[in-house]
Amino acid sequence: MAGGLFLSFEGIDGAGKSTQARRLAATLEAEGRNVLLTREPGGSPGAEAIRRLLVEGEPGRWSGETETLLFTAARRDHLERTIGPALAAGRIVICDRFADSTRVYQGAARGDLRGLVDRLHAEVIGVEPDLTLIIDMDPRLALGRGLARASGEDRFEHMGAGFQSRLRDGFRALAGEFPNRCRLIDGARPEPEVAAEVLALVRPRLA
Ligand code: TYD
Repeated sequence: MAGGLFLSFEGIDGAGKSTQARRLAATLEAEGRNVLLTREPGGSPGAEAIRRLLVEGEPGRWSGETETLLFTAARRDHLERTIGPALAAGRIVICDRFADSTRVYQGAARGDLRGLVDRLHAEVIGVEPDLTLIIDMDPRLALGRGLARASGEDRFEHMGAGFQSRLRDGFRALAGEFPNRCRLIDGARPEPEVAAEVLALVRPRLA
């Protein structure tokens, strides 16, 4: 999959990562770069179908193990059909969530499933982004924003503030675990300020 640049955005629900992913894509496109903006769970027709199973319904609908399998299945399809071909064509892929979300949401916050998450990742995914931008924010602030959207896709947001707090800790720990790949960004600032920091981190990676 050489040639392109693979960027991911991560963070708790409502931290503003989707907005930042869109802004970055628009900025790079305006410079004439070939950008693919995509998201997980989803990003290919098969993965979008799996997404609906995951984000809708009761918080207790799936066990952590089943969830891990579904997210990994969606990621495999997304990688085969969307991300892999785009990177092979030399494009800049900006992915709103990737494997770090599974490491944190399923691996750490819902029970200790990190071993299962890592084994599945090694077996069927095996790819990491070149750079991961983790938008960090106080969950109380972020949760207000997230539920305010009332999209019907709020299964994880309804798991509550304690859950969101464990997620934040999980993402911060990941930044320490993968210091070369992950950057922690303070999301509790005006949007343009966060965007400027994101761009400054991405710039050196551009050909
Ligand atoms: P997302 O569409 O990013 O929601 P939002 O835009 O509200 O942040 O993701 C949907 C939910 O799925 C979100 O709560 C995070 C969760 N999720 C996981 O639990 N594991 C994963 O591997 C991924 C990609 C997402």
